[in-house]
Amino acid sequence: MYLEHLGIAVADAAAVRALYEKLLGLTPYKTETVDREGVCTHFLDAGAKLELLEALGPDSPVARHLEKRGEGLHHLAFRVDDVDAAFAHAQQLGFQPLGDAPKPGADGKRIFFLHPRDTHGVLIELCGDTDAMPPARHVPFDGTTLATFTFGDPARPPLLLLHGAAGATQLETLPLARELERDFFVIALDHEGHGASGEAAQPATLFRFAQGALAVLDAFETEQAHLVGYSLGGAVALLMALQHPARVTRMAVHATNLAWDDVLVSQMQARLDPDAFARRTPETWSRFDEVHQGRARSVFAAARAFTRTLPAFAPQVARLADVQTPTLVSAGDSDDLFPLGKTLDLYRLLPAARLAILPGVRHALRPDDARVLAPLVRSFLAG
Ligand code: CO
Repeated sequence: MYLEHLGIAVADAAAVRALYEKLLGLTPYKTETVDREGVCTHFLDAGAKLELLEALGPDSPVARHLEKRGEGLHHLAFRVDDVDAAFAHAQQLGFQPLGDAPKPGADGKRIFFLHPRDTHGVLIELCGDTDAMPPARHVPFDGTTLATFTFGDPARPPLLLLHGAAGATQLETLPLARELERDFFVIALDHEGHGASGEAAQPATLFRFAQGALAVLDAFETEQAHLVGYSLGGAVALLMALQHPARVTRMAVHATNLAWDDVLVSQMQARLDPDAFARRTPETWSRFDEVHQGRARSVFAAARAFTRTLPAFAPQVARLADVQTPTLVSAGDSDDLFPLGKTLDLYRLLPAARLAILPGVRHALRPDDARVLAPLVRSFLAG
């Protein structure tokens, strides 16, 4: 649980935006309309997140607030792990949550409010993250299409976000996208054959994934971008920096290894066994299958085949010594796929690298890990 944002009711959003820009040099990183609440929200990152609330019509709760109390602090929002449990808990404690259940709010959240008469005059919002995605833009790529999702203000520096093998933006990198959009225009892509992208038109190789990522940069008319990659996505970023250094500003690679041997391949094959996966965690498996459009089995089979191609790349790893792109190399100290030594080797090999080891973090990128990693990535990329 932590303070997620401060909600501020504004009568004239343009004037308030201008005030924060003049006073603190802050401009909103995102503006989002929530029609069912009749509000337009403007998000500012001032260390703490500010949510400026602008009424869209006279029936909006924000309009009624402005009438009664004028402009100013509207609510405090606390983020909880399980917003449904928090709702039930609040009811048990005798609070009267507004509404029958948590409802969709801005910024990919589900939220509910407690009435200020129960909370000593301060309207309290409790919110939880969802995996709601922005609309996809499909980029043509050599016989198929790649799904892309954008986050934040297109005027900010572009950042390409790359997920791991057999993953997808919605499954892995979404929490990172939501953190990084405060500073960057985040373009997250689903690799070929993964997630919301079209069927794979060619067998997967590192080179093919890198070509797809370049096609996305071209489609967004982005000459140069920061690259942030998780696991396979980090390997793709390193390859792009090797082949096309002028397209990469800075990069961050997390839980990434390019020096594959037969032992690692067989460990990865075991992780990519769909039957074992479905038996162990049936709910996670159905979620994977849904996000992969009902083709999780073929995604896993393709990833297994791809993994077998990786040891052939190992002789080229030494070429990474030529990559001058500033790179943040990070990994969890409890990574259960790649030994820590692989991360240290990569860090030592890259001439302009910095190192971050996250305590207690395993290979899978969980939302809580993303929230630990994001501030390191944001400050590294900012230079
Ligand atoms: Co709020």
